[in-house]
Amino acid sequence: MDAFSGIKGFMDLFPPDSTAFTRLEEAARRIFASYGYDELRTPLVEYTDLFTRSIGAETDVVQKEMFTFPDRRSRLMTLRPEATAGVVRAYVESKRYTREAVSRLFTTGPMFRYERPQKGRSRQFHQLNCECLGSHEPYADAEMIGMLVHFLGAAGITDFDVLLNSLGCGTCRPGYKSALAEFFRGLDLAALCEDCRRRLHTNPLRLLDCKVPGCRALTENAPLLDDFACAECAGHFSTVRRLLDAAGVCYILSPRLVRGLDYYVRTTFEVVSGNIGSQSAVAGGGRYDGLVAQLGGPDVPGIGFACGMERLALLLPEREATAPDFYVAVLDEAALDTGFLLAQQLRRAGFSGETAYAARSAKSHLRQAAKNHAAWACILGSNELAQNSVLLKNMVSGEQRSLPLAPLADLERAMQKGSYEH
Ligand code: HAM
Repeated sequence: MDAFSGIKGFMDLFPPDSTAFTRLEEAARRIFASYGYDELRTPLVEYTDLFTRSIGAETDVVQKEMFTFPDRRSRLMTLRPEATAGVVRAYVESKRYTREAVSRLFTTGPMFRYERPQKGRSRQFHQLNCECLGSHEPYADAEMIGMLVHFLGAAGITDFDVLLNSLGCGTCRPGYKSALAEFFRGLDLAALCEDCRRRLHTNPLRLLDCKVPGCRALTENAPLLDDFACAECAGHFSTVRRLLDAAGVCYILSPRLVRGLDYYVRTTFEVVSGNIGSQSAVAGGGRYDGLVAQLGGPDVPGIGFACGMERLALLLPEREATAPDFYVAVLDEAALDTGFLLAQQLRRAGFSGETAYAARSAKSHLRQAAKNHAAWACILGSNELAQNSVLLKNMVSGEQRSLPLAPLADLERAMQKGSYEH
């Protein structure tokens, strides 16, 4: 029978990838908790309208990248392409704003986008996502970016740049959009890519951060939002920068950074790394002050970010896998139960290790113990069974001695002494 294959763009994660994910999650939980973040788990599936309304009907994500399907009653559902929409939906539905002035929520898990799979880009990918709901203050922006950088450092990731921009607000952005439209009217737009020709009518700001060389060239002298920012946006942005400077968080001002989701206002940022190929954005986020109201909640502002775990994993420094303490080697079938119980007892005493489920020759077992990098081999043959003992072999020095199986204290003590020598 033909073996099944997985779905294109949906990956299986074995070690070292799965262990890299665990390390990232551990660092994230530790750092985010130190800033007061609580974990929220939202469903993987939401009604499609939630994403259309929050991410924006004309965005690439909604137009071409969502996994959408009707349920049995023909209601359209979508596998979440990002976490923010679901978090805000849950925040509004649970009326969390009635319980706390500021909610800090952390989410992790798989997201789904129908993109062309390549290095650092898959159709099921994983995000670490933080949202802070309830503050307009630039302190929230600076803390969010600082926390992201703190987390990356704690995970051992050093090779990245933080790109920073402000996208203005409902007051200043319309004037800027008209200026952009005016600028584009004077150009020969035949050189624009297909996406940008669409964006010209839907969201001309997005033309600014298109990576296609023809589009880059055409937009080189486009007006920048900085010159159109209202006093509030300019003041907010300068405070964010002052706070980041004071906190020693490095960033690169990037006036052309326009994120691909429509809900952003004011501060936006991305973390990029030149070391992971063309999919260089490892994290992105920004402020979304109108989103909670847009999804039926009160007028609560928000800011957040998401990191792509597959891309972060590519940047993690190598780490040796931890070696087990023991390998139980049973030479005689009659000793299999004893070996099974010994391994159990050792694990309960805090040691780690494996046992083979079958009796084999000492040579074959010791080869396996060495392959596992086990510190100790616990050998059980017919002699040991008769004497109710175990032969403990130090896998580094080769020394071995016989120790009683009951009580087990001598064996535990002997293993403790030298088990971390390599
Ligand atoms: P985003 O920029 O669309 O933002 O995604 C955040 C990160 O997810 C990206 O920087 C990238 O590392 C990763 N990512 C996105 N698509 C893929 C993919 N197909 N394969 C692998 N990794 C991918 C958001 O999702 C916003 N919800 C972030 C946010 C939270 N803004 C405010 N709060």
